[in-house]
Amino acid sequence: MSQQWSADTYAENAAYVPAFGADVLALLDPKPGEDILDLGCGDGVLSEKIAAAGARVIGVDASADMVAAARRRGVDARVADGHALDFSHAFDAVFSNAALHWMRDPDRVLVGVHRALRRGGRFVGEMGGQGNVAAVRAAITAALAEEGIDAAALDPWYFPSAEEYRCKLEAAGFVVDTIVLFARPTPLPTGIEGWLDTFAGPFLNAVPVAQALRLRARIAVLASSTLNAAGDTWQADYVRLRFRARSQ
Ligand SMILES: C[S@@+](CC[C@H](N)C(=O)[O-])C[C@H]1O[C@@H](n2cnc3c(N)ncnc32)[C@H](O)[C@@H]1O
Repeated sequence: MSQQWSADTYAENAAYVPAFGADVLALLDPKPGEDILDLGCGDGVLSEKIAAAGARVIGVDASADMVAAARRRGVDARVADGHALDFSHAFDAVFSNAALHWMRDPDRVLVGVHRALRRGGRFVGEMGGQGNVAAVRAAITAALAEEGIDAAALDPWYFPSAEEYRCKLEAAGFVVDTIVLFARPTPLPTGIEGWLDTFAGPFLNAVPVAQALRLRARIAVLASSTLNAAGDTWQADYVRLRFRARSQ
């Protein structure tokens, strides 16, 4: 089952995602007059901030609903698959927050990012890295297995190590200035069920609605001892991979 993003659900349950983007925005350091591509721009919260720095921003995202929300903010956003970018030497920088781990063929993505950049242009991003949401993923896998479903076959995520992604960047023609993997435990304002509603569609939309509701509740039970030990505050075990590279 493919991803199905809803801008309303995202804003309600996951506003912390762009809020946590402040550090990677600082790493991007957008300058007035620069041309910048926001890859997987979502509802455009960060694209808007890049534009506020004086840069010209184009956002691309695979979800029509997210792109429509970004456009309502005034972002020049377009529906496009990050695996098939068709820009040629058009940008001083490509930026991406919390989107690259949804693209399962990173080599194809990197070919398009490299081609989109002018020589010496920078690629700055943050994504889920190795071990990201491991406890959530384990609970999803266990709950689905109880009902005879193989979660691995539905898994939408690519969470690389720093070493693996550095190799991919270099193979695609980048010099890596920095790449770090770090744990970032993340409070979930609407609990694990809000998180599942926002991010676990590829698993839960693959089954009938009644079964999905049952699985959602079961995942919450299985994850609670790890992610809601106190009983009143859910915290997801996010691990992020943040990098800045330059095209050669
Ligand atoms: C967690 S959201 C992040 C959005 C935004 N960058 C932010 O920081 O709020 C992930 C986004 O990646 C987009 N996405 C997933 N797969 C994609 C693909 N193959 N090409 C382009 N965008 C994709 C989704 O549609 C979604 O809007």
